[in-house]
Order: sequence, then C-alpha cells, then structure tokens
Amino acid sequence: MADTFEPRPEHHFTFGLWTVGNPGIDPFGVAVREPLDPVETVHRLADLGAYGVSFHDDDLVPAGSSPTEREAIVKRFRAALDATGMKVPMATTNLFRHPVFKEGAFTANDPAVRRYALAKTLDAIDLGVELGAEVYVMWGGREGVEVDAAKDPRAALDRYAEAVNACCAYVRERGYRLRFALEPKPNEPRGDIFLPTVGHALGFIERLEWPDMVGVNPEFAHETMSGLSFHLGVAQALWAGKLFHIDLNAQRPGKFDQDFRFGSEGIRDAFYLVKLLEESGYTGMRHFDAHPYRTEDASGVWDFARGCMRTYLILADKARRFAADPEIAEALAAASAAGIHEETVPGGATSGAAVSALRDRVRAEAADPAWLHALATRGYGMERLDQLVNELLLGVR
Ligand code: GCO
Ligand code: MN
Ligand code: MN
Repeated sequence: MADTFEPRPEHHFTFGLWTVGNPGIDPFGVAVREPLDPVETVHRLADLGAYGVSFHDDDLVPAGSSPTEREAIVKRFRAALDATGMKVPMATTNLFRHPVFKEGAFTANDPAVRRYALAKTLDAIDLGVELGAEVYVMWGGREGVEVDAAKDPRAALDRYAEAVNACCAYVRERGYRLRFALEPKPNEPRGDIFLPTVGHALGFIERLEWPDMVGVNPEFAHETMSGLSFHLGVAQALWAGKLFHIDLNAQRPGKFDQDFRFGSEGIRDAFYLVKLLEESGYTGMRHFDAHPYRTEDASGVWDFARGCMRTYLILADKARRFAADPEIAEALAAASAAGIHEETVPGGATSGAAVSALRDRVRAEAADPAWLHALATRGYGMERLDQLVNELLLGVR
C-alpha cells in the first residue's frame, strides 16, 4: 500500500534484532517461529524503510563463538549493512539469559559474577562501536531481588554506579564516541528491579562520575506496567536533556511486560508521546522494542514491523493536524494552555526582591474577594478539548 505513511530511512526507525527475531517463547510455551538470520533481518527491514538495527552482543555473535567465528559473523553482517545502507545506532549486552546472572550482573552479590558481567559488557561495547553504535543501552533485567534479606540495596546501588563508571572510564580511555542510556523497568524477570522508573534512573545518573555521558532509554511498556504515564516520564527525560534513546511498544497497565506492536494498546498515550517527540526536536532513533504476537508465522513478523512504523507516522500526522486545527486552537486558548510558558515570577524566580515584590502585588489583588472568586469559578473547557482530540484520533475531523 503506497500512501503518505510509507516508512523511509530519514524517519529514523530502528528495531532490535531480538524483536522481529523473537521466536515466541514464553514462560508457558516453546518457540513457535524459526530463528531469524540477522542478515535477513537487515535486508527485510531495509526493504520496509527502516533506518537501522540494534542488537545484544549474543544476538549477533552467539555466546561461545571463537574469535575467528566472530570475525566471519561481523564481516557478513557488515556486508549486509553496506549493501542496504542500514545503520547500527545502538548496541547492548545480554546480561540476563545465562544462568550465571540469576542473582544479578552488575549488582550480583558475588564479585566474580560482577567482574564477568563487566568484562562481557566491555567486549560488547567494542562490538557495538565497531559497527557504528553511538548509544549503548543498559537494561538491568537481572539487577534486582526477590529476597530482600539477601541484598543490601544501598550497596547494590554503589556497585551499579561503579559498573556504569567503569564502562564510562573504558569508553573515555578508548576515545569512543559513545553515550550510555539506562533503561528502567519495575519488575520482570526479577521480583523487583533496581532503577524501576525513569525518575529513579534520572536521580541515579546525577550521582555518577561522568553524568553527561549517561542518559535514559525509557520504554513505553515499562512505565505503563507501573501505572505511570510514559508521556510524562519521557517529558521529564527531555527536560533534563537525558533522552538518549527510546523503546517504543505497547502495554496494558498492570500486566506482565507485553511488548506489543507500537500503538496496539494505549493509542491516546501513543499519540501524546509521538506529539511530544516530534515537537521537542528529539533527534534520536525511534526504536521499536516489541515482539510480534505468538500467533504469527514468518510473514506476520513483517506485518508487525510495518505496523509499528506506520502507526508512528500516522500519529505524527495527527500531531500536525492537532497543531493546525482552528477549533483545537480555540479550545487550547480556553484552557489557557499557553499560560504555562509565562514565568510565574516576572523578573525571575532567583531574585529575592522580585519574589517579594510579586507577593506584595498578589496580596493586594487577592484582598478583593471577586478576584479570587473569578479564578476559582472559571472553567477550562477541557471536556471539549479532549473530545476534539478523540475525534481527531478517530478520524472524523
Ligand atoms: C525487556 C527489555 C529489553 C531491553 C533490551 C535492550 O523488557 O525485555 O525491554 O528488551 O530493552 O534487552 O537492553
Ligand atoms: Mn519490555
Ligand atoms: Mn526495552
């Protein structure tokens, strides 16, 4: 179908090799699809208009490969990238599959496990950089607890920070152009995971040795699992200058990590997210970290990938329509939406004199009961605004 929602490389859509390559294993069932060859993935995604792919070390170079095997795999993969023009903007480490990580990786109690996790990460950083990655995601899936008695959480955070610092030190020493993005998640596979939300991660980053090298990779499903607003989490990351990468997918609140096709659930949340990304000037990747439904065969996988990108483009178009719609503009004015951009303290909140002058002025104004009454009884017209957005999204305006 050729329409205006055709994905193209300039849209910067990327997919993890593990996403389209997900074989449909779940805690109750075995694989339902054959493994996908990373080279085929690169070609198929390029045909669909994607910009690039990301991977965990083991997605590309299976664990236990010899140096010669690694070289052959990388050569073949690079040839696919060269042939298609596809890029590798992000790479990451698998610190969750191997049984050695069952008690944690960077925060495991056993120092030998932590050292192994760090060494594996440094190797994976080399692999990512070799293929062009500029962002390195750290998702601490196993960094957590079931038995609180067995772990000192403050010491675990020290060890977590130590590992991130060590990776930064390594990157600096090597002269790599690489930034790190921490990916929060509240639980799964651990009962509870350290850095469970965007806010926790942002607070953690400020205590690191080189905070400028570290940002976040928020995931739609992960904030939504906790019942939080992904839109607000991403907004705060942008506000802090920390949105280095993003994982797009879909999720119903309160459920297991569903990792559904972008926009398949929570379409309004997805709309506000796309609107935010498009209007904020975010220049990073629109990365999909989602899985095709377990019902799908090989062809359903590509319907899934295409669907993620098309929904994003459709919602970006809706965001443009929102901005150009005169009735919506009227409703926004009724809601005083522009007022949020005006400074609360004219002259600046850091001037004590300006703050005191403001207080004196407000005191005088508020002495008139009519002034306060008018503010207390005004309406904001948000029912109308919200319905206009619904009608825009439902395609009737
Ligand atoms: C998940 C995570 C992972 C990470 C990936 C990259 O919940 O499974 O989202 O998919 O994003 O491991 O680090
Ligand atoms: Mn997820
Ligand atoms: Mn993710």
